[in-house]
Amino acid sequence: MRKTFIAGNWKMNLSKQQATDLAAAIAASIGTGTNVDVAVCPPFGYLDAVRGALGDSAVRLGAQNLNANESGAFTGEISGPMLRDLGCELVIVGHSERRELFGECDQLVNLKAKAGLKYGLHVILCVGETLEQREAGETNRIVGSQVLGSLADISPEQMSNVTLAYEPIWAIGTGKVATPQQAEEVHSHLRDILTQQFGDEVAQQTRIQYGGSVKPGNAEELLAQPNIDGALVGGASLEPESFTGIIGHG
Ligand code: PGA
Repeated sequence: MRKTFIAGNWKMNLSKQQATDLAAAIAASIGTGTNVDVAVCPPFGYLDAVRGALGDSAVRLGAQNLNANESGAFTGEISGPMLRDLGCELVIVGHSERRELFGECDQLVNLKAKAGLKYGLHVILCVGETLEQREAGETNRIVGSQVLGSLADISPEQMSNVTLAYEPIWAIGTGKVATPQQAEEVHSHLRDILTQQFGDEVAQQTRIQYGGSVKPGNAEELLAQPNIDGALVGGASLEPESFTGIIGHG
């Protein structure tokens, strides 16, 4: 009932030429129709060029971040309306790299999520625990409070434009993927939290992606879990074969 959703987070990688080549290769492989939702999130400076390279394929364009304000004196920032103007349909908020390296707290992530929704962008909200928190048995409490804090004041109706991404920090870019059972356990907890907060219908409709060292070789087993509805892919989204290999398991 939930359509699998695979998104590529290119982070701060690639040249403009490499970015458009990658987008064109993914677009050619996906074509205009697919039973999996697919999106790519290039660096801001390549959004326009990548939008062109995606052509009329079913691959959607997303951004990795946004500023919560509409416009104004925010040097170096980009707003939701600007992302829309560049052809973006979605935006990632709350990625652990933003939280850890740029000091983003749940309150700021919440403002960004609300701004994304207000300006017509689908929001991928990332949450995840550190290795230390996992070893201390705090995973469910941490991801639960991240979700509730980041989704404050968001209505059940708006949740149709939100996807969650569970990304254990210890699994991002490390090659240490969570086992399908570890991931499923957290996804199922997240769905319980959604039920408490927004009701059963919203909880059952909301997609929850897993992220953290997803590769073609581990995607099938992860995506087979009942509460894993897709993947947010970093490193493996930079090569057309590995990204489309993951999509092939969706
Ligand atoms: P990774 O990154 O696939 O390279 O681990 C995932 C992410 O940060 O979204």
